[in-house]
Amino acid sequence: VVSDSEVIPFSVPGYACQRRTTLENHNSVLTDALSLLAENAELSDEDGRGVAFRRAAAVLKALPSAVTHVSQLTGLPCLGEHSLRVIKDILKNGTSSEVESTKASERFKALKVLTGIFGVGAKTADRWIREGIHNLQQLRSSGQTLNRAQQAGLEHYADIRQPVSTAEAEAIRGLVERAVASVLPGAQIVLTGGFRRGKLTGHDVDFLITHPEEGREVGLMPKLVSWLDSRGLLLYQKTSRNSYLESQDGPGRPPSNIDRFERCLSIFKLSTPEAAKTDLQDAAENGVQSEEDGESQSGELGQHLQRKAASERRWRAVRVDLVVSPVSQFAFALLGWTGSKLFERELRRWAGHERGMSLSSHALYDNKQVKRCTECRLTRLDKLAYLTTITFLKANL
Ligand code: CTP
Ligand code: MN
Ligand code: MN
Ligand code: MN
Repeated sequence: VVSDSEVIPFSVPGYACQRRTTLENHNSVLTDALSLLAENAELSDEDGRGVAFRRAAAVLKALPSAVTHVSQLTGLPCLGEHSLRVIKDILKNGTSSEVESTKASERFKALKVLTGIFGVGAKTADRWIREGIHNLQQLRSSGQTLNRAQQAGLEHYADIRQPVSTAEAEAIRGLVERAVASVLPGAQIVLTGGFRRGKLTGHDVDFLITHPEEGREVGLMPKLVSWLDSRGLLLYQKTSRNSYLESQDGPGRPPSNIDRFERCLSIFKLSTPEAAKTDLQDAAENGVQSEEDGESQSGELGQHLQRKAASERRWRAVRVDLVVSPVSQFAFALLGWTGSKLFERELRRWAGHERGMSLSSHALYDNKQVKRCTECRLTRLDKLAYLTTITFLKANL
């Protein structure tokens, strides 16, 4: 029992982007619960509710110690009635009945499994569930037409579900660095996403690539992809070209949250360290074998390889996002691709509501000046955007 005099109320700023947040979370029981409800809302096409739960979770994540009493939360931002009810439930009973029943619900379980397939979003999963498909087996035998991404996603489901480690991210970085250095010397590559934020695992590996000379980055992605592909490093890739200038949200238009950079959503084939070693041993062993017995070698080698493929993991599939940005937009692209998603969302909301500016992964506009500057388009606007971003970052991060 905590007496009121012992309770120290917490205090945090209103926007997630104004808070110092470390990887140390003192309230993971509460934030896990709220994140699960956020996920359920997002998977149910209730984005508004999803954001509300994400904001509430982010506030609790930023607290310097564990919440022990609900009165400590008085005056904290973003804690709506619904989130508070869940928090109170957990503080009182150890669990939240809503979270437990969501976790146990067939619909939530099916949504998680189906959207866990790369290429499957909430809408597709919902349609499949209405058609009686709740798991991978049912999907496989349903005869549903799958697009190329979904086929690859289904094929590599187990691998992609496994979190990516920092060691694996570094290994992928090595591959991408070699590829980039060979197709465009001088190009620069940065690990973005969760790993740039210091997370120890991720669901994928994100890279941003640019060249210090504006314009040299044009045409890089197809070369990069074919370098990787020709070496058997890609299990799947889909490249979308840069559509910034022709887009609805190009210069002079309000930016959307989706950026227009040339990007490649891919699945890499990453050799496991063990497989690399075994390959070396095999090469040595087979060399000896072929000297001893030239005739039966190919049959034995074939069987040997089949056995080996079935019994050992020689590689694993890893989701990788590659993005190419012109250097003039690099600062914004880096900021936009570092995440987290909520941080980005809050930063944009803060820029708009508190500073009258529009921030995207391409630029930062002063909303008043954009109206005065419809003709100059890219060059002057980008200079302005670059300068304002630098000031913005220095002042706020
Ligand atoms: N992003 C984006 N446009 C997309 C996808 C992602 O701008 N179409 C940005 C997101 O805002 C996020 C960053 O890229 O900030 C990385 O996204 P993602 O890989 O989905 O998330 P991570 O934060 O890296 O988390 P995880 O470890 O799960 O990959
Ligand atoms: Mn509600
Ligand atoms: Mn990521
Ligand atoms: Mn990503």
